[in-house]
Amino acid sequence: MQTQIITIDPEKINNEKIAQCADILLCGGLVAFPTETVYGLGALATDASAAKKIYAAKGRPSDNPLIIHISEPRDAERYAHTCPLYYKLAAAFMPGPLTVILPKKDTIPSEVTGGLDTVAIRCPAHPIAKEIIARTGVAIAAPSANLSGSPSPTTGKHVIDDMNGRIDAIVDGGEAEIGLESTIVKIDGDSLTLLRPGGITSDALLCVCEKVNVASAVTEALKENERPLSPGMKYRHYAPNAPLVLLDGEDEDVQAFILKQSKSEKILMLAYTEEISFLSGVNAIDVGEREDLQTQAKRLFSALRTANELDIDKIYAHLPTQSGLGLALYNRMIRAAAHTVLKVTKKNI
Ligand code: TXA
Ligand code: MG
Repeated sequence: MQTQIITIDPEKINNEKIAQCADILLCGGLVAFPTETVYGLGALATDASAAKKIYAAKGRPSDNPLIIHISEPRDAERYAHTCPLYYKLAAAFMPGPLTVILPKKDTIPSEVTGGLDTVAIRCPAHPIAKEIIARTGVAIAAPSANLSGSPSPTTGKHVIDDMNGRIDAIVDGGEAEIGLESTIVKIDGDSLTLLRPGGITSDALLCVCEKVNVASAVTEALKENERPLSPGMKYRHYAPNAPLVLLDGEDEDVQAFILKQSKSEKILMLAYTEEISFLSGVNAIDVGEREDLQTQAKRLFSALRTANELDIDKIYAHLPTQSGLGLALYNRMIRAAAHTVLKVTKKNI
């Protein structure tokens, strides 16, 4: 299949190119486009055969449901049974990096929801995503636009690397602002369950809802035979080719450990800006300043993709904090590391 690459400047939207994307979608085709979180691989959410094409293009298991994207919060009425808490969340966080799980209506085929009776709804803030959805006039089902198992794409190039020849069109609209996928919550009466942490933190959610339960799978490995609250929790995500090990210790001990380890192994360190000069001679990627979680979030997936291009035996990174945006980083990194954490102390360096 010939994939069209369509470049759109998010600050100067070209309506003809948006119309071209909408036409492809309305004809049942697949178009990848940027959102403020990561790039999405879009198809009409009301078209079962278009949804099937998404699963085929990604190599994604068909029981892992898709998020549907709308251009206005109230459009959720067409596809789901809403409630007052949905509108409170919408008023606070939409458009933006929040996905809400609601009971589905029959307008959404079961192929899109992996057979579940709920549907995941998100109203993205990115101008290109908004325009494409509005122009199409129908919700767009869009998982992250990566091949299943590889890191979510945060640039047009990442999507081209994974999807060229597999889908109808790719919109290149520059780098995604947040770099990690949306926060996913399920509404349970008056409380929320956090299924996937993202750009909207638990603290932010607590400003709107008194009770936010964090699903155990956000930080822990699923137990054998445990039924996940979200099908995506059971799949190993973002597995880099070389094993990733998270280092839990004081920065100076971690640095000493890395310097020693680099003498015996071909390693890559995902390092803070402040320690790059200290780690001279070590293969390192600058993930941002220690306290700058936003930059670390933005750079993580790109760093994992770069790691796959290098001749290395192991990737090391600091174990992230679990507070604020740190929880989203922690969740992605602990899964990429298959929960491998090494405690580093002065004694074991
Ligand atoms: O930021 C994002 O959310 C990006 C952009 C493109 O919008 N999309 C994204 O989609 O990350 P995807 O398919 O890679 O991840 C969707 C996650 C999966 O883990 C899936 O299991 C979960 O959402 N999910 C979807 N529908 C669900 C439902 N009805 N109940 C529980 N989990 C659901
Ligand atoms: Mg994904």
